[in-house]
Amino acid sequence: MARLEGKTAVITGAADGIGHAIAEAMAREGAHVFLGDIADKAGEDFAAALRAAGHDADYVHCDVAQEADIARLIDSAVKKTRRLDIMVNNAAIAIGGMPVHEMTDEQWHRLIAVNLTSVFRGCKFALPYMIAQKSGSIINMASAQGHIGLDGWTAYAGAKGAVMAMTRQMAVEFGPMNIRVNSISPGTINTPMNDKLIKEIGGNLAKTWVKMHPLGRIGEPSEVAEAAVYLASDAAGFTTGTDLRVDGGLTAAPRYVPELL
Ligand SMILES: NC(=O)c1ccc[n+]([C@@H]2O[C@H](COP(=O)([O-])OP(=O)(O)OC[C@H]3O[C@@H](n4cnc5c(N)ncnc54)[C@H](O)[C@@H]3O)[C@@H](O)[C@H]2O)c1
Repeated sequence: MARLEGKTAVITGAADGIGHAIAEAMAREGAHVFLGDIADKAGEDFAAALRAAGHDADYVHCDVAQEADIARLIDSAVKKTRRLDIMVNNAAIAIGGMPVHEMTDEQWHRLIAVNLTSVFRGCKFALPYMIAQKSGSIINMASAQGHIGLDGWTAYAGAKGAVMAMTRQMAVEFGPMNIRVNSISPGTINTPMNDKLIKEIGGNLAKTWVKMHPLGRIGEPSEVAEAAVYLASDAAGFTTGTDLRVDGGLTAAPRYVPELL
């Protein structure tokens, strides 16, 4: 039996990258998936492809920096399926690669809006439905960067650290209502976000970064999606307040990398 049969899942940032893989995996496991993104053509095409493959999928335009968009995405899922079982707060942007004193207030506020306030709002609008239903699983996308330091990524790391702290807090607060709240911290994953970053930082440094993952490679979006399916499923029924690292060991130990010396 499919692991998410009969469940309704909302996923933000679902048109590409990790969110795309999560939506695909959850649909394959029987969930009705509601995809939110700002890339409307890609999102619509993806939802149509999922439906053509026999899955239940809808696309709703959702800029996670806009409060009303997040509310509309979640409301539309509940209106159509009469339930909300899984909320994946995944969408985020990478603004970084500069020291703190060179980051503008505008860049800071943009990053916090898309990467952190969005998570607050995704939870805020999902929770009333889950409380009424007396069940639910919220999955917030954090990052290895919330665990370790990397030059130039203070704001991004700060937002991801806050995502993990909020996840623990909500797990405590809503556990008694049978709502589980967990986060996932990916290491470097093969997505458009990283294509752009790897091009920006350049060949050798990029290769060194890959080697810093003890497994010797970067991860695939499908590997993060598997973690999300697990956390969303009844198999994780006693798992809440945790951060699941899907990072090839990146945060487990410092690595000796000759190229860095
Ligand atoms: N790729 C990695 O190595 C990596 C590592 C750690 C954590 N993460 C986290 O995983 C999540 C997904 O990252 P990714 O690599 O798949 O990113 P990505 O840039 O490849 O894809 C992000 C998706 O979000 C959408 N998006 C961007 N801004 C949006 C907005 N304002 N509203 C709605 N959708 C928006 C994009 O259109 C795209 O479809 C993020 O939370 C990211 O911080 C990624």
